[in-house]
Amino acid sequence: MRLEGKIAVVTGGNSGIGEGIVKALAAEGAAVVIDYVAKPEDAADLVKDITAAGGKALGVDADVSTADGIQKLIDSAVATFGRLDIYVNNAGIETRHSLLELEEDEYEKVLSVNLKSAVFGTQRAAKRFLEQGSGGVVVNISSVHEDWPMPGNLAYCVSKGGMRMLTRTAGVELGPQGIRVVNVAPGAVATPINDATMKDDAKRQKLENAIPLRHVADPGEIGDAVVFVASDAGRYMTATTVFVDGGIMQGSVGL
Ligand code: BGC
Repeated sequence: MRLEGKIAVVTGGNSGIGEGIVKALAAEGAAVVIDYVAKPEDAADLVKDITAAGGKALGVDADVSTADGIQKLIDSAVATFGRLDIYVNNAGIETRHSLLELEEDEYEKVLSVNLKSAVFGTQRAAKRFLEQGSGGVVVNISSVHEDWPMPGNLAYCVSKGGMRMLTRTAGVELGPQGIRVVNVAPGAVATPINDATMKDDAKRQKLENAIPLRHVADPGEIGDAVVFVASDAGRYMTATTVFVDGGIMQGSVGL
């Protein structure tokens, strides 16, 4: 197992891509702290499954859109498992409004949940790694839209573009201390965020035709990439992005 003895935190770990990451990390032997703000039963089910399989997991109710919530999450991980090795900034939302439709409170919410959480999550995880006198890894789940405009989803794209520069800047700042910061950038994934597309056959078909690998990702396919980045196999990766998108960014729609 590639992550035996490692302690990992996954924000928004109870659903969607987060759930796929939690399962993949646990399958490789990491003890996983599953952060959630809604649906505590989903976190509880995951803890039960991981524990039944002989692993270690803990659910923590913490709102990572505030620095206090993030600190509570990290403190809970350390209180239960003694240390921190891997911190995954996964929590994210989107509202699918264009620039002209965007409301101020909506913008602030998306930016807080997606980007502020990642900035202070990276900061607090790095402070913990330094206190431990250890290195560590921060994995930021961005999106192909860290680089690729998605008209009609303005605030989301701004937040993911911000994560791109968070990772590059923090990775450069923290590299000398042995702390790595890497973005994993998914394309389209079968999660609640994409429910409307997945439940409409015509929309789903159109999306799949735009993906060279011809399928919308399962959350586990993103989880496997996070395991690689967070494990020793990824030891020379920092301040950069790994795109895990089935080729969608390079696809030639309709050809
Ligand atoms: C967005 C989805 C979108 C996908 C591919 C994701 O980051 O959350 O709404 O379908 O990118 O464009």
